[in-house]
Amino acid sequence: MKLVNNTICKMIMGRSCSEENGEAERVISLVAKSDALAKKFFLAAILRKPLPKFGISLFKKELLDVLSKFDEVLEKILVENKEKLDQEHQQDTVMMDKLLEAYGDENADCKISRDHIKSLFVDLFVAGTDTSTHTIQWIMAEIIHNSYILEILREEIDSVVGKTRLIQETDLPNLPYLQAIVKEGLRLHPPVPLVVRTLQERCMIGGFYVLEKTTLLVNGYAMMRDPEYWEYPLEFKPERFLTSSMKKDEIRDEVLKYIPFGSGRRGCAGANLAYVSVGTAIGVMCQCFDWKTKEDKVNMDEAAGKITLTMAHPPKCTLVPRTLIPLTLCMQIPIS
Ligand code: HEM
Repeated sequence: MKLVNNTICKMIMGRSCSEENGEAERVISLVAKSDALAKKFFLAAILRKPLPKFGISLFKKELLDVLSKFDEVLEKILVENKEKLDQEHQQDTVMMDKLLEAYGDENADCKISRDHIKSLFVDLFVAGTDTSTHTIQWIMAEIIHNSYILEILREEIDSVVGKTRLIQETDLPNLPYLQAIVKEGLRLHPPVPLVVRTLQERCMIGGFYVLEKTTLLVNGYAMMRDPEYWEYPLEFKPERFLTSSMKKDEIRDEVLKYIPFGSGRRGCAGANLAYVSVGTAIGVMCQCFDWKTKEDKVNMDEAAGKITLTMAHPPKCTLVPRTLIPLTLCMQIPIS
């Protein structure tokens, strides 16, 4: 979770949350509280209670408390960033600098407020942290559980990246097996198993008339384990994502039966980012370490009553470095 949180913080503000003054712990605990609250909102929505009438007032105090704490942390970060920007007169390179620039622009076509900036960051923290963290945990558990997968993956990494430098995100397009592992992990263990839609107008779905304003739950978890669409649906088989010569209608079917990021206009805004950050994290963890567990088998049970699909018993591992020679980080500058 720290790794994911640091990645999102670096994108947003160009640095990790500080460990020393407890900033990192505070943000991570606020994300956890937001997740717990999201579960209540979710239940209120599917139990068809109109939120303004019932839901919001039920959770108002908790919600305002989390939001005011997020506001406090983010306001401090915004002020620090603005001061740094003014002092260093440097080119804006991170998201926060760009947004602060737009905030201060009197002539901007679309005015943004400080609250807009902070809300966007809360959205990114909450949507991106838990989802990516649990995905990494499930996939590592599958890899430790199925040692032959680790062997194939290491062969791929060693032949493409070599043994002297660290894998990095620009390597991912050349690592199809690693990409297939991430896709298969998201199929079997989608961190967001249910997606909610409220219909703007009545329509027909699967032969049923559905009324306007109906709240519809799309069970992506069940769809991605449906034996009608997937062979050996309960098995972790990355190979199924290696077939590349699909026809057009097969690709369309593939898209409809595979929805770990939801779909359509409200589909996940961070899907591409998630593939890159999860892929790189899994790649580095397998390239650099052996993962020893006390138990012979990893317990893959799911925890009950969570809004994000969570492991009931995450494996406790001892990390053994594969090499004592530190791998180099090769910086590649993209050519535009
Ligand atoms: C493996 C990681 C992730 C998974 C599985 C995931 C999955 C999802 C799903 C299922 C939705 C709802 C889509 C729908 O209703 O159709 C969603 C929404 C969203 N996700 Fe992700 N997500 C992940 C990572 C991220 C990251 C890293 C970010 C950004 C930092 C992000 C930002 C968002 C945002 C902003 C939304 C709301 C989109 C909207 O309602 O307009 N997600 N995500």
